[in-house]
Amino acid sequence: MSPAGRRGPARHPVPRPEVAALPRYSRAAGAGAVRWVASSNESALPPSPRVVQAVAATAARAHRHQSLLGEPLSAAIAGGLGLPEERVVVGGGSLALLQLALTAYTGPGTEVVYAWRSYEAYPICAGIAGARPVPVPLTPAYGHDLDAMLAAVTPSTRAVLVCDPNNPTGTELGHERVAALLNRLPSDVLVLLDQAYQEFATRPVDTLALVERHPNLAVLRTFSKAYGLAGLRAGYLIAQPEVTGTVRAVGPPGAARRARGAGRRGAGQRRQLLSGCRSARTRGGSSAPASHGACRSAPSRVKASG
Ligand SMILES: Cc1ncc(COP(=O)(O)O)c(C=O)c1O
Repeated sequence: MSPAGRRGPARHPVPRPEVAALPRYSRAAGAGAVRWVASSNESALPPSPRVVQAVAATAARAHRHQSLLGEPLSAAIAGGLGLPEERVVVGGGSLALLQLALTAYTGPGTEVVYAWRSYEAYPICAGIAGARPVPVPLTPAYGHDLDAMLAAVTPSTRAVLVCDPNNPTGTELGHERVAALLNRLPSDVLVLLDQAYQEFATRPVDTLALVERHPNLAVLRTFSKAYGLAGLRAGYLIAQPEVTGTVRAVGPPGAARRARGAGRRGAGQRRQLLSGCRSARTRGGSSAPASHGACRSAPSRVKASG
């Protein structure tokens, strides 16, 4: 008897219920020429020409496996931050690293706490991992309500997501409040501090000091925003070796391959790229994340989406 016969009438594969119930990513909508998608916080500025050259050079070697875990890029990032290489994991976007971390540390029967409204991927990533998403409403000033988030933590909580500066509200916690949150959370709860917009922060967090002090902290950063490389999807995670080793263990090998050379060039041109973004922000006169400011400041064919 065929396996299909054994199961009766032909059926199609059925995903896990929590996957079937996932919210879908919103898509940009609208007609006409599009210069950048403001709702996705794409940079209004194109990538640096040196990055474009590096990507082209990498494309010519696409028939070859490059490094297994993006070691040259993680070494360059770690070197730039003054960290041992083992503290940095690179991936196909910080979003992919978030997913890997949630896959590794959460799952069915566990909970993931995050502020809402924040990055739309959070409930999706928690759901994919099989965990229960626990959204905590923002304060009336659109910031993270840290007391309410702490109150939402239960024995089932395995991860807390903090977006600083927050997408889409642009609010910032600043170092003292992030540090206080870490001090008050149980040390077996993984805190994922999403710093996708850290280059635009007006109240910077001393992230490296916090990573040194808290083995349960993992910081997510990206080349997609300030470096204008959203299409390349390259991000990194900073944490103590136990967490970075675990995230590496669950990730597919070679995920950050395309970004290898480009990321190194981007990192090398840091000052130039960031000053371009900041001047665009200044022209936009925004107090929101600078990527929003940059969008407003540039000529106006911006595609809107929900
Ligand atoms: C808060 C936040 N985190 C992460 C990401 C995704 O970054 P990456 O392109 O590195 O996956 C975004 C992109 O919009 C974001 O807004």
